[in-house]
Amino acid sequence: MNRTPQQRCRGRRCLVRRVVFILRCRSSTGRVQPLRYGVHTLGGDDMGDEPKNPDDWSENFGETNMDAYEDELVVPLFGPWAERLLDIVEVTTGQAVIDVACGPGTVARLEAVRVGNAGDVVACDFSAEMLAIARSKPPVDGALIEYRLCPADALDARTDGFDLLTCQQGYQFFPDRPAALVEMRRVLHPGGEVAIAVWAEFEEMGPWPALAKAIAITFGVDVADAFRSGPWGLSDGDVIAGEVRAAGFDEVSVRREVVPIELDDVAHLVRTLGAAPIWSEITALTKGEFEQFLDEVDAASATWQDSHGAIHGETISNIITAAN
Ligand SMILES: C[S@@+](CC[C@H](N)C(=O)[O-])C[C@H]1O[C@@H](n2cnc3c(N)ncnc32)[C@H](O)[C@@H]1O
Repeated sequence: MNRTPQQRCRGRRCLVRRVVFILRCRSSTGRVQPLRYGVHTLGGDDMGDEPKNPDDWSENFGETNMDAYEDELVVPLFGPWAERLLDIVEVTTGQAVIDVACGPGTVARLEAVRVGNAGDVVACDFSAEMLAIARSKPPVDGALIEYRLCPADALDARTDGFDLLTCQQGYQFFPDRPAALVEMRRVLHPGGEVAIAVWAEFEEMGPWPALAKAIAITFGVDVADAFRSGPWGLSDGDVIAGEVRAAGFDEVSVRREVVPIELDDVAHLVRTLGAAPIWSEITALTKGEFEQFLDEVDAASATWQDSHGAIHGETISNIITAAN
């Protein structure tokens, strides 16, 4: 939605207030020191000393800034998607369910409620940091969740043990997807169901292409391409369906689902990058560079902003289901 000059001005003031907040935390050299931006500590110990490889998303999942993932992405994005996923697979009371690449427990916690006390939920991830966040959450009213630290291609889970296996936005990161699928088949009962959710085409996904445009202007096209390629690097649902079929699953189907998203403002859109490899580059910007970056994001995402500066968009995911 287009905003009037007055409305844009209000948005600018809000951004400027945030930047002023950041400035108070800057060193005399003008480079970013450990600082607070919104609810997150940026720079310094949180980010590690070495810049991360922008192509290596897996490495990033081990960083302590996974708190950003929880605060900025789970509530507006992954939580609603978990609800959608479980509505599609129809989890029922008493089932045994395993969630692979569980992250902070987004899907597993809903599964635990839906299967109830008589059910059984195991949740696996190869990131100790993600599991620490998951374990720190209060228990849900339902099954106890057993969290296990393991990679998707070597699941720490019993053979023939589960009615349902879910994997939300993790499959695209697996280094050996065929091996992960072998493991998924091993842990499912014969006839058990698998449901894998992976983002569809990046360019159709609301404000994120706008964010990528601003990243390209500030950090260069290569960095923007690396940003796109991680979570959105396996956008063809039929390719995933082919892999699932090749692993021996039956009744493979692909559906394309859309879930709307609302972010508080431009600053929130930027904070969604807190769990991305590019975050270390953002926190290395000088004050002027950072202000310029916010300007670029504001301009690029203008069509997604309402009159209060909130950002509205759509997220699209392929959901592949199949029977073991
Ligand atoms: C985008 S997050 C999704 C987390 C969770 N499913 C959710 O919906 O919030 C991706 C997750 O995949 C995990 N992951 C990536 N590669 C993995 C692998 N090879 N084995 C296990 N987990 C992996 C990461 O640690 C991270 O928690």
